Amino acid sequence: MKATAKAHTNIALIKYWGKRNEELILPTNSSLSITLDGFYTTTSVAFDEDLSEDIFVLNNEVITGEAYRRVSRFLHLIRETAGKQNLYARVNSVNEVPTAAGFASSASGFAALAAAGTRALGLDLTHEDLSRITRQGSGSACRSIYGGFVEWNMGKREDGTDSQAIQIQTENHWDVRVAAVELNSKMKKISSRAGMKRTVETSAFYSGWLDSIPNDLKEMKAGIATKDFEKVGAVAEANCLKMHATTLGATPPFTYWHDSTMRVMQTVQEMRKKGIPAYFTIDAGPNVKVLYLPENEEQVEKILKDIPDVQNVTLSKIGPGVTYL
Ligand code: PMV
Repeated sequence: MKATAKAHTNIALIKYWGKRNEELILPTNSSLSITLDGFYTTTSVAFDEDLSEDIFVLNNEVITGEAYRRVSRFLHLIRETAGKQNLYARVNSVNEVPTAAGFASSASGFAALAAAGTRALGLDLTHEDLSRITRQGSGSACRSIYGGFVEWNMGKREDGTDSQAIQIQTENHWDVRVAAVELNSKMKKISSRAGMKRTVETSAFYSGWLDSIPNDLKEMKAGIATKDFEKVGAVAEANCLKMHATTLGATPPFTYWHDSTMRVMQTVQEMRKKGIPAYFTIDAGPNVKVLYLPENEEQVEKILKDIPDVQNVTLSKIGPGVTYL
């Protein structure tokens, strides 16, 4: 009744931004991501008949409060799926997602937890089944089940049985790189959950965002299939800008950007004018991720590190899906 799994973070090129069902975590749009090699979580789950509640240890620290409750609620879903409601678990997680890289660890964390937890209870699931369960821990985590280029199909059904990710290309298809640029920032964080909710409910621009998704997805997939970096980069950057524009149309309006966020965005656009193909994308926070090709790695890293207020630049290749240890 014990299993260990490893899962990597992912970065969306077409963003997931909005839920149509908060309980089941069903999105209002499909999204597309790449899984990253550099950042991952390893999680062991051991179910034990002698336990009377779950225990969650993260980086050698016993976790309580909301983070614990989220994990325990998710374990409950796994227990229900396996028909073993009264069996509690000891969860031991180690994050190799340096907070310095500015990544949330929830994607790799919930993907590793879902994989280890279901395996520990003897469930033999397909990747699609596993992705669907993982989605209910954290939406974007459902994409981290797979390596390479991954699409989360929003699905149509209201019970969520068709909302899961699939792999569109493996990690060996194309060597695209990502630089995670972490900034000095003391801004108060609006969680992705709260930001999405406010945007869906109040943003004047939200319908425009949704209308633009089918074409962005189509262009992105064509760009990935033909390894057209300019196309993939341009579509990703524009999609990110549209997502962030919806927050400015919300009531009350808000933005995840910091002045230094804009400085990095402008520097990336200047790189292109100098002939270095590089494109940015940004999630629900001030940090920036920059897409580039291996032949430009040295230049890109140097230019990004020289920007004032940049604290850290971490480079990553495209990575694999969930593995069991
Ligand atoms: O799954 P969450 O709650 O971490 O939300 C992720 C939202 C974005 O990172 C902004 C976009 C995405 O698709 O990952």
